[in-house]
Amino acid sequence: MTKKDIKNELEYIEKVKNINEGRNLKYNILTMGCQLNENDSEKICGMVEKMGYTKTDEILEADLVIYNTCCVRENAEEKLFGKLGEVKKLKEAKGTIIAIGGCMMQEKHIVEKIKKSYKYDVIFGTHTLQNFPKDLYNAIMQNKKITDILDIDGEIIEGLPIKREDNIRASVTIMNGCNNFCTYCIVPYVRGRERSRNPEDILDEVKKLAQDGYKEITLLGQNVNSYMRVERERGEAPEEINSFAKLLRAVNEIEGIEKIRFISPHPKDFTDDVIEAIKDCEKVSKFIHLPLQSGSTKVLKLMNRKYSKQQYIDLVEKMKNKIPNVKFSTDIIVGFPEETEEDFEDTLDVVRKIKFEQIFMFIYSRRVGTPADKMDGQIPEEIKHKRFDRLKDLYEEMLKEINKEYIGKTLDMLVEGYSKTNKKLLTARTDTNKVVVFEGEDSLIGKTVPVEIISEHMWYLKGRV
Ligand code: 5AD
Ligand code: SF4
Repeated sequence: MTKKDIKNELEYIEKVKNINEGRNLKYNILTMGCQLNENDSEKICGMVEKMGYTKTDEILEADLVIYNTCCVRENAEEKLFGKLGEVKKLKEAKGTIIAIGGCMMQEKHIVEKIKKSYKYDVIFGTHTLQNFPKDLYNAIMQNKKITDILDIDGEIIEGLPIKREDNIRASVTIMNGCNNFCTYCIVPYVRGRERSRNPEDILDEVKKLAQDGYKEITLLGQNVNSYMRVERERGEAPEEINSFAKLLRAVNEIEGIEKIRFISPHPKDFTDDVIEAIKDCEKVSKFIHLPLQSGSTKVLKLMNRKYSKQQYIDLVEKMKNKIPNVKFSTDIIVGFPEETEEDFEDTLDVVRKIKFEQIFMFIYSRRVGTPADKMDGQIPEEIKHKRFDRLKDLYEEMLKEINKEYIGKTLDMLVEGYSKTNKKLLTARTDTNKVVVFEGEDSLIGKTVPVEIISEHMWYLKGRV
């Protein structure tokens, strides 16, 4: 994949910095959506801080407010318009600069609505992140509104500054875009076609993170296990690291990194070489996020997921046989068009069979421009909510059972810091992403220590070092 040269774009960082010199300006950022968006926000923060702004959590203090938006479900839209309504007053009172970026800005009807009814200075999309300093510069210097959106699939952008949220765990994007076109999903339309970063760039980034003391890496992509697939098909993949399995093995070799996770894989691309790599690589987490979406073969077909209920169950069985102690989390959508009571029962059946450690549950949300939005058989809201509650009840019931299995076990955990709700307690997470709180010395932060689990409390566990 050819990389875009962004030297010219980055020169605007200096230019904005020069206009901001000595003004002690602050910025506030709100990130919606998934970890890919969070990773983009870290890049936005990297650029913005180089331009001389310091971060504030207090929006009233901010001279620059940035919204990095998501459009996967409808509630994000409501949230953005609410926020834009509030920030309007701030702009009128003190001229706060408003920048709106991310996935939602790739949707024409949303941009039109913002232009018509809200105040803003810069609108930027998912393919124009690197232009943000230039757009901001032009908005300030020319005192005009800038809209900078590209409809093309985008290129791979390397070399943006990055300001990471955490100093132990880091996310590394390995691919952008998606070619799957699940019929409910807006992502392929707002993030463009699949394209993978070069392995050298990924490995260099992870090596630098290891040198900086990072211990845990999450490899990110809309469909990570098809890493380099389109490049392979086009004969453009590198010779050595040309698949996700090989990338996992290469990252596993990097000294200093203790844990490797990845999200999200697609069940249809979970090939044997990936399963082997997970088994062989001691640093790769054995806690796998495997989006189910629905347990009904009929609904899966309508969703264009390309696997059946039985194929999903068989895949999990195969992984359980090959990878000792493998555990799973999943995403489930309830109330997809044409979902009958029987179809929903199939979903509950898979949940009972697989005993997911974690389930992210979503009520189907109609997205303009997706095939499912035009399907007959849309499910009334009331039924969707009832099914959601039934799934939640089953999940919570099973969670209690699953949590009980942890009591008495001693597990190695990376100590992350203090508990958000009780500063006297330390927190860590099990490999399966369960929060564990326990008493301990500050000096344990950043270290991996054995913690014995002593009790379960549905959404967290208590332990002792
Ligand atoms: N409605 C509800 N949930 C959705 N997701 C994606 N699109 C929609 C939609 N239109 C969920 C899927 C995906 C997760 C990130 O969001 O479960 O895996
Ligand atoms: Fe959306 Fe499906 Fe692509 Fe995931 S794999 S981003 S759900 S289209």
